Amino acid sequence: MRYVVTGAAGFIGSHLAETLVQAGHEVAGIDCFTDYYDPAEKEENARGLDVRRLDLAADPLDFAGVDGVFHLAAQAGVRSFGDVFPLYLRRNVLATQRVFEAAAAAGVRVVFASSSSVYGEAEAYPTPESTELRPISPYGITKLACEHLARAYAAGFGLDAVVLRYFTVYGPRQRPDMFFRRVCDALLAGTTFEIYGTGTQSRSFTEVGDAVAATVAAMERAPAGAVYNVGGGGEASMLEAIAELERLSGRRLGVRHGGVATGDVRRTKADVSRIGKALGWEPRTPLTDGLSRMWSWASGRVACR
Ligand code: NAD
Ligand code: UGA
Repeated sequence: MRYVVTGAAGFIGSHLAETLVQAGHEVAGIDCFTDYYDPAEKEENARGLDVRRLDLAADPLDFAGVDGVFHLAAQAGVRSFGDVFPLYLRRNVLATQRVFEAAAAAGVRVVFASSSSVYGEAEAYPTPESTELRPISPYGITKLACEHLARAYAAGFGLDAVVLRYFTVYGPRQRPDMFFRRVCDALLAGTTFEIYGTGTQSRSFTEVGDAVAATVAAMERAPAGAVYNVGGGGEASMLEAIAELERLSGRRLGVRHGGVATGDVRRTKADVSRIGKALGWEPRTPLTDGLSRMWSWASGRVACR
């Protein structure tokens, strides 16, 4: 198959592109290497992949002859209030509208990377897809806008779109603004780590290989219009997760507590029964195993410098 992966120089996109190539597919990556975090990391992620430098919000897009588009490019990061908002609008809403437009014109399926942040403080845990969507971060609002665009393009132009709501994904190459990555970096540098709030907030952490497996299954087997949670493998509070990384690394983390980050939810817990029934997917990687791999990667990276 010939696939396009947008955001292919990013954390999840680079893992996805590699998995597709290893399975024998032809993969054209698209990424504009934004400076949300060090573009040198993205160059590292993209090594060995065919990644074209295109800005999805501006450059012409043509998906003719492609068998499917995995749309992962975005301005990620939940802490999104303030003057960064135009970037979220451009890189999420505008870029996604242009991807849907081009995919509908070419008659190509799109698997769209949405987010658990569309739920906000969820009504129920574990949270099924049918739960009311009431995001509390600007980021979550732009992801929800993209989900609505997918439905509008399906209704108006027959777009074949599948929406995946990823829950806090972790593993090698995790973005440097994310919790586990920052904890690993602080353990390695011996610096103090700032927890936003008490650290009792918890997440349905999802190992990146599990997220990639769900994403490939969605492209291959999901019915058009499907929406699935992709989450789990281990729920933990930030304090529990730090204790686990301290155990794995044999180091102690200096911690200080800052204010709660606006837009952060208290808890996420994915109900994955829908994707389990439809695609036979379930998270397979226990948090301890995934964190062990992540620590090996982070410490190996520092040792190589
Ligand atoms: P990432 O920032 O590492 O990757 C996103 C990539 O998109 C970046 O390399 C960036 O340069 C690129 N990009 C941004 N705007 C672009 C544009 N206009 N044109 C071309 N490329 C552009 O993020 P990630 O953590 O790998 O997340 C991948 C996707 O999954 C995103 O859509 C994110 O919102 C979603 N998601 C991630 C998580 C998570 O825990 N990492 C959870 C839920 C949803
Ligand atoms: C993550 C991703 O960053 C989003 O792109 C994604 O959409 C979202 O998952 C999702 O599941 O939809 P988040 O859960 O906030 O968002 O992931 P982390 O950045 O790893 O943060 C986890 C927790 O650690 C949050 O409560 C955060 O406040 C806390 N944290 C993070 C800190 O206490 N200190 C930090 O330095 C960073």
